[in-house]
Amino acid sequence: MHAITVIPGDGIGPSIVEAARRVIDATGVEISWEEMPAGLSGIEQYKDPLPEETVESIRRNKTALKGPLTTQLGKGFRSVNVALRKEFDLYINLRPAKSFPNVPSRYSDIDLVMFRENIEEFYSGIEHYIDAQKSAAETIGIVTRFGSERIVRAAFEYARENGRKKVTVVHKANIMKYSGGLFLDVAREVAAGFPEIVCQDVIVDNMAMQLVLNPHQYDVIVTTNLFGDILSDLCSGLVGGLGLAPGANIGANAAIFEAVHGSAPDIAGKNLANPCAIILAGAMMLRHLGEPAAAHKIYTAIEQTLGEGKYVTKDINKVSGIGTREFTDVLIQHVLAAK
Ligand code: NAI
Ligand code: MG
Repeated sequence: MHAITVIPGDGIGPSIVEAARRVIDATGVEISWEEMPAGLSGIEQYKDPLPEETVESIRRNKTALKGPLTTQLGKGFRSVNVALRKEFDLYINLRPAKSFPNVPSRYSDIDLVMFRENIEEFYSGIEHYIDAQKSAAETIGIVTRFGSERIVRAAFEYARENGRKKVTVVHKANIMKYSGGLFLDVAREVAAGFPEIVCQDVIVDNMAMQLVLNPHQYDVIVTTNLFGDILSDLCSGLVGGLGLAPGANIGANAAIFEAVHGSAPDIAGKNLANPCAIILAGAMMLRHLGEPAAAHKIYTAIEQTLGEGKYVTKDINKVSGIGTREFTDVLIQHVLAAK
């Protein structure tokens, strides 16, 4: 029995998290779900977007499945996502982008894995206006040797363990000569310990263009926080969109699994969301829990369901697409049939 903290989240969150719970339960793995609020529901129940009860639950269970949380633009409380990553020192943001058969997209056979530094730099929240007139604003981005070393090492270790051939280090060391330069220097030092893996470095603007033009030249990508955030959405666009892109936030003592996408307020409450991203995050979670067979069942079921092309959500087929709940029902049939 695994005890897991589950955070339904905001917007489309509750509907896709519910779908993920149903699919994970269908694998037969025994999970005791501890449902906890955060984001807007945290404010409603505890007057706090990140209630201490929720933090305590994650601390106890060490593993969470989290729906997306809404964060206001340019005002309001700080991002709960960022707060959780800091609270549990979840320094790895692992975001795979893999093609599925029969999903319309510009490319097929994409198999990229992004390692994004998840704590430092421009997401550290050290920012302010310089005066009461708001005539200028400053956001401080600190890149440390310690933080760079451990994310790059995580990427190379992943490459070694998973038979990957190349790690691409993405940076802007030509302009940000200190913070970018430090990240790049450390990356080269770490790479020297992995002689069997090709280490390549690419400047971020060129990387954006290369990913659109020829993504097949890449394998594992490692980069700093902001670039990783932007490029992982780009990578999801290469495999059919945000509805298919899972992610994991991993630290030494806890891991939180979620979709790459946000709370999608434009489609919330309409039974339109594609639950695959969070369900795939659930499969990553099962692997992390030492349940690879259950993870494989889910992966295969998604591959089969999408591959058949008959039942997909509307982000994949505008005309014949079906709802979140109906799609989940079909997926569960495939999970139950999977060996
Ligand atoms: P978003 O990722 O929520 O949506 C971007 C676009 O993709 C929208 O058109 C949306 O309808 C579509 N989309 C996203 N997920 C989908 C799915 N599962 N199925 C079908 N279509 C999907 O990004 P946006 O609109 O920029 O942000 C909305 C809110 O989410 C903001 O408050 C933001 O701060 C928050 N957010 C939270 C994240 C998290 O909790 N980890 C990550 C990213 C954003
Ligand atoms: Mg993002």
